[in-house]
Amino acid sequence: MTAPQPSAKAFVPFVSVETMMRLVHHIGIETMLVELAGTIEADFRRWDVFDKTPRIASHSNDGVIELMPTSDGEIYAFKYVNGHPKNIAQGLQTVTAFGLLAQVSTGYPLLLAEMTLLTALRTAATSAMAARHLAPKGVTTMAMIGNGAQAEFQALAMKALLGIKTVRLYDIDPQATEKTRRNLTRSGLELITCNTAQAAIEGAGIITTCTADKQYATILTDNMVGAGVHINAIGGDCPGKTELHKDILLRADTFVEYSPQTRIEGEIQQMAEGYPVTELWQVVSGAMAGRRDQNQITLFDSVGFAIEDFSALRYVHKKLSGTGFSQDLDIIADPDDPRDLFGMLQRAQ
Ligand SMILES: NC(=O)c1ccc[n+]([C@@H]2O[C@H](COP(=O)([O-])OP(=O)(O)OC[C@H]3O[C@@H](n4cnc5c(N)ncnc54)[C@H](O)[C@@H]3O)[C@@H](O)[C@H]2O)c1
Repeated sequence: MTAPQPSAKAFVPFVSVETMMRLVHHIGIETMLVELAGTIEADFRRWDVFDKTPRIASHSNDGVIELMPTSDGEIYAFKYVNGHPKNIAQGLQTVTAFGLLAQVSTGYPLLLAEMTLLTALRTAATSAMAARHLAPKGVTTMAMIGNGAQAEFQALAMKALLGIKTVRLYDIDPQATEKTRRNLTRSGLELITCNTAQAAIEGAGIITTCTADKQYATILTDNMVGAGVHINAIGGDCPGKTELHKDILLRADTFVEYSPQTRIEGEIQQMAEGYPVTELWQVVSGAMAGRRDQNQITLFDSVGFAIEDFSALRYVHKKLSGTGFSQDLDIIADPDDPRDLFGMLQRAQ
């Protein structure tokens, strides 16, 4: 006799890496970046409704493993993500992730999804959303320092949301730059390979730093940064892991996601506790100014916040309805009588 099959209550839609890849191409990567930015911005506008906490980080000498939870009262989400800069040497990625959405009213999961690709997409969408408020008007050139896994996503988001036309690439590893140049060949972007970070930032209105090194690094020094630029600092996102010389922060107006987390993890960990920052949601909602004048140096000190992952998972969940872009995973126990969990176990005898 075959064991009774679980009912529909047992199944949770699962978006694998392979399915996420197909979904991204189905939507179109630039369209998805624009839509994700819109979804994240809409959630930043209702900032008050969310549970917020600095992410829960487990540090080791090799890297960090983090849990990023939040809820808007109806839907709960968390992401598991790591950051291991030394992984590359073993043929492993620096950042991998997966995440879950759940219904607050029952605690039942709604979606389980890969989030390595989705993190790259949501990080780029958030960067471009921030740049839309902070970058100089009419900017067409960006520098992309650090040409690893996130790089192409960052460039395409700036193209799709801000009309960036030229990307000046630099990485300490020329092979990384070559990989990025190759991947973006048909993107419509003009790509310029540079031999130093200094050369990369020449004429760039947006400077993105997206390097991975578990130390206080100095990718940009104060004398490199001219008036009027927007710095999109992605790679400094852990205690002891920064990219900018602190003197830049003394000249810049700094914008962050959630200041209690960024003071632990961001570039501003180098600054005194009272160093002034503006949270991005305040700019998005119109409560605070973004860019005020042409000479201002704006800095988006990005570390990645749970609400961006919540928005990205909800976006994917909405896109799934009526499509084949998920598989059903049997991950919820489904006894015939909810109290008879032991009885359900007997089904498999
Ligand atoms: N802010 C966020 O939301 C967010 C999201 C994802 C990743 N990150 C961070 O972004 C960084 C990049 O992530 P990734 O997945 O692209 O990593 P990756 O390891 O794939 O790429 C990092 C690149 O930086 C280069 N690099 C290292 N030191 C450099 C230097 N001094 N100058 C120029 N290039 C240098 C490396 O050669 C490598 O190509 C990581 O630190 C990661 O933790 C932040």
